[in-house]
Amino acid sequence: MKKIHVRDREFTVSIPEAAIMQRVTQVAEQINNDLKDENPLFLAVLNGSFMFAADLLRGISIPCEISFVRMASYEGTSSTGKVKDLLGLNEDISGRSIVVVEDIIDSGLTMKHLLQTLQQKGPKQVKVASLLVKPGNLKVDLDISYCCFEIPNDFIVGYGLDYDGYGRNLRDIYTVVAG
Ligand code: IMP
Ligand code: MG
Repeated sequence: MKKIHVRDREFTVSIPEAAIMQRVTQVAEQINNDLKDENPLFLAVLNGSFMFAADLLRGISIPCEISFVRMASYEGTSSTGKVKDLLGLNEDISGRSIVVVEDIIDSGLTMKHLLQTLQQKGPKQVKVASLLVKPGNLKVDLDISYCCFEIPNDFIVGYGLDYDGYGRNLRDIYTVVAG
């Protein structure tokens, strides 16, 4: 199995590019069907979701808008538990159908906080589209409408996700090799 290095850690491919593309296209179709009369506003959470958002949105064929927001940062290989405020939301979301586009839901704390912040602004509905979910780590109850892949608790990089700022440019998703 092909191994790569990102910083000081070794990683192997866990979800190849072709499998990602196939699944992201499927999820985009689901959203096209579910929200066809809703004129949704997609809110992509930077930095991690930039590749997923780009591919997902190319599969969206219904009228929609997209904007970019930012939440907590993530340091090293385990969640710091710190939550920052929502930055960069300039749109009026009252009465609108929102789709939050996220790279990964780990503990779920970031998403929980983001959803609470959005709910205070009176949207019609807020759906969550996450590339990855680690069900084994979830600490809060979340309604995740669109999930591309459920994965084990191991640390991953690639396709937008980083290890210490590196690895976001990789086309495949890689899992850390233990040790
Ligand atoms: P949560 O608040 O614990 O759900 O953490 C969510 C954020 O942690 C994500 O948006 C990612 O930025 C980061 N994260 C969680 N797991 C990983 C991982 O395996 N690799 C890279 N980043 C991760
Ligand atoms: Mg993120």
